[in-house]
Amino acid sequence: MSPSQPSPARRTHTCGVLRSENAGQDVIVQGWAHFVRDAGGVLFLLVRDRTGLVQITVDDRAPAEVWEVARQIRLEFVLEVHGRLVLRDKGAINADMDTGTVEILPQRLRLLSRTRPLPFSIGGALSAEASEEVRLKHRFLDLRRPELQSKLLTRHRAYMVTRTTLDAQGFVEVETPILCRSTPEGARDYLVPSRVHPGQWYALPQSPQLFKQLLMVSGFDRYFQIAKCFRDEDLRADRQPEFTQIDMEISFPTASLVMEIGNSLVRALFKDIRGLEVGPIPVITYAEAMARFGVDNPDLRFGMEHVTLDWSGSAFRVVAGAVEAGGIVKAMVVKGGAEDSSRKTLDGWTDFVKRYRLGGLLWGKVQADGSWSGPLSKVEDALLAQIPDVAPGDLVLVGAGPAAHVHAGLGRLRAHIARERGLFGPDQFAFCWVTAFPAFEHDEENGRWVAVHHPFTKPMDEHLEWMGTDRMGEVLSDAYDIVCNGYEIGGGSIRIHDSAVQSQVFAALGLSPEQAHEKFGFLLDALQYGAPPHGGIAFGFDRLVMLLSGTENIRDVIAFPKTASAQDLMADAPNKVEAAQLAELSVRNTVDG
Ligand code: AMO
Repeated sequence: MSPSQPSPARRTHTCGVLRSENAGQDVIVQGWAHFVRDAGGVLFLLVRDRTGLVQITVDDRAPAEVWEVARQIRLEFVLEVHGRLVLRDKGAINADMDTGTVEILPQRLRLLSRTRPLPFSIGGALSAEASEEVRLKHRFLDLRRPELQSKLLTRHRAYMVTRTTLDAQGFVEVETPILCRSTPEGARDYLVPSRVHPGQWYALPQSPQLFKQLLMVSGFDRYFQIAKCFRDEDLRADRQPEFTQIDMEISFPTASLVMEIGNSLVRALFKDIRGLEVGPIPVITYAEAMARFGVDNPDLRFGMEHVTLDWSGSAFRVVAGAVEAGGIVKAMVVKGGAEDSSRKTLDGWTDFVKRYRLGGLLWGKVQADGSWSGPLSKVEDALLAQIPDVAPGDLVLVGAGPAAHVHAGLGRLRAHIARERGLFGPDQFAFCWVTAFPAFEHDEENGRWVAVHHPFTKPMDEHLEWMGTDRMGEVLSDAYDIVCNGYEIGGGSIRIHDSAVQSQVFAALGLSPEQAHEKFGFLLDALQYGAPPHGGIAFGFDRLVMLLSGTENIRDVIAFPKTASAQDLMADAPNKVEAAQLAELSVRNTVDG
């Protein structure tokens, strides 16, 4: 066949919009063959475009040329249908389809494009061969599937709602550079060599943090940006190396004002996209989150809160050993969990907590007569009585050891059990703010203090004098995170707007004045030119859209995502480049091949 590229006619309707009211009209629709069934004298065809499906019925009323084309149609061929829209017979109405009361009787059928054999089904259920790898390689086809299309439409809606909500509150959208100065704090930078300045490098922004602070110094007052960020860090299900933030900064703020604005955005998004009213969003401190849930991103859709126990008096070896070594003891009650928690389940949970370096799990089942079975039966009754709200049939899980291990082990186990036992539904969203974070944490590996959020976060005024002393770990910051269903969906803080305080923080983090100046001189300078008090937040846009569209895989809401090893399987990036390109950039490849 000679190459041909038929030009399309102008369509009258998209497929998904046709209704009974349109019956009697001559229509032209275009789209992909989603389903074909040749039932002898009648051929049924579903044509799909982004808006939905419509049925084309080819029967003895159709011209012979239509039949000729119809017989060639294979799934995913691109078609143009000219025909009369009619009401279906009563018995043929499909209540599950938006266009289920009508069908098109074609007068003309044009084949605009054909397809090679498909690597996986677009219209039907995905087969086992359609691994995520195969689908990512053919992302342009995967994106034809209505499930993924609807997620990208949700994403589109979320951009729109974000822009209108923030515009209405006086925010100005400003773009900040992608080629930036490298200021490695937190994650590793992606670097870009400069051709014009041999041996020098740009970094892609991990966030627009410094630029948005400078915009406040410039007087912009309320800034936002839907910003691409780049971080070379280990990936997880809710992380991508390039991701999008709704980045915001305001002048003259209080933490509660920033949180109020954040709430307004979350409310608008969930109302518009899910039709849900987000109720009051609780605020808890970091210390409270750790005490009650063991993590700083608690999932509040279910209970099983942790309780701290004073078991210093116990003679039970495991507990006594942990307490003597300066550890803590915490418990969690699984209501009604005694009967259906088999030995295998409990062993599985024990292995689970070991991944978080908790030595093991002490468990006990409360019997009908109030007595205990399992390892906890060896603990003194008076100490067991400290655990509130236990009743016959309950399962109690106790962790004992260093605080960080108990928190992580029991904290993650709480979420794991809730998922296993189906303690939450698909339409449930539970938000909270977590505030008063520690400002600094000790990086044991490198033997130095690092900022928990970033070094521009304002420590609480009353803790400033502890910086650089042995109370450094107790300094709290004016930072806040917003969490939904256990995902950190946003984080921010009130910033330091005084150059002297900023220098003091850099010093406490071990940077000499020269190093601080070399890395952040432009910020320190700017803070000396009438910097207003300012603060802000960045929401993880992909994570928000992930929650709004009911998936747990961040890749589902990104048109062209990277794999867990930061690759683009479709375009095959990263890839090797020509030696000449490297030479032009004054870069030498130290890897063979
Ligand atoms: P932070 O680093 O907490 O703060 O990032 C803000 C939010 O961005 C999302 N996020 C990610 N999403 C997907 N993939 C990633 N790799 C990834 N990393 C972060 C999270 C997170 O809550 N400049 C500060 C904000 C500020 O202080 O105003 C910042 O970037 O949802």
